[in-house]
Amino acid sequence: MKVVRTIAELRAAREALAGRVGLVPTMGALHAGHLALLEAARRENEAVVMSLFVNPAQFDDPVDLAAYPRDERRDLALAEGAGVDLVFAPPGEELYPPGYETWVEVEHASRGLEGDVRPGHFRGVATVCLRLFLLVRPDRAYFGQKDAQQVAVVRALVRDLALPLAIRVVPTVRDADGLALSSRNARLTPAERRLALALPRALEAAARAPDPVSAARAALDGLDPDYVEVLDLGDARVLAAAIRVGSTRLIDNVLVEGAFA
Ligand code: PAJ
Repeated sequence: MKVVRTIAELRAAREALAGRVGLVPTMGALHAGHLALLEAARRENEAVVMSLFVNPAQFDDPVDLAAYPRDERRDLALAEGAGVDLVFAPPGEELYPPGYETWVEVEHASRGLEGDVRPGHFRGVATVCLRLFLLVRPDRAYFGQKDAQQVAVVRALVRDLALPLAIRVVPTVRDADGLALSSRNARLTPAERRLALALPRALEAAARAPDPVSAARAALDGLDPDYVEVLDLGDARVLAAAIRVGSTRLIDNVLVEGAFA
């Protein structure tokens, strides 16, 4: 596995890859959810590229950015174990040098849900994903259903700019108790974790109800969700919600109709 840190090194290493290339963009702190994306990429492509970059542009809260878990040695060992060929792990200045001023706005898909609670978040996500797509030129890029609105934003970006790659969506990986894996889960105390379990349980139970949003709202009574909404992704419709437990914000969603193509 090769690790590169500059755009120039990435370009040279990309040239050396043969066959179909699968890209898995990550911010590190890898867990079994990321590994499922890497496995899918490994299965479907001759070469796998992973990016490891905590993208400052998608954090609206500097405290959240500073608190983001970073353990590159561990991430690289896990990536190597998952059969990654090439890791792009640039320092911040490599992607955003002084004077950087070009941003991508995916208008409709970025509104509502997470977009309303985290201003500028999807502008940062869309911009970094476009940069990674242009630099890596993958045949396929892999995203988790866990971040369903991010899938909507990235799909719109690829469609509108006619980018020559396929977006693949991988189902959410959960712990045995049902909680969706997230780097944020480590911040939960045992008591908070018990409260957090209400989120997957409410969504799972409400997905089959005649009015999923009302059913989930009722089940989340007392947890004051930021939103409970059905998000239409075209091929699939998901019931999505976000709650705060202590100082930790958790998001999750479940399929209510269709399936990811
Ligand atoms: P990050 O939070 O590191 O997630 C990287 C990818 O892993 C995303 O596509 C996310 O949806 C997926 N993922 C996270 N938890 C998952 C789970 N429990 N099951 C399945 N997949 C899961 O999402 C980002 O980084 C960034 O926004 C990024 C796309 C890298 C752009 O900076």
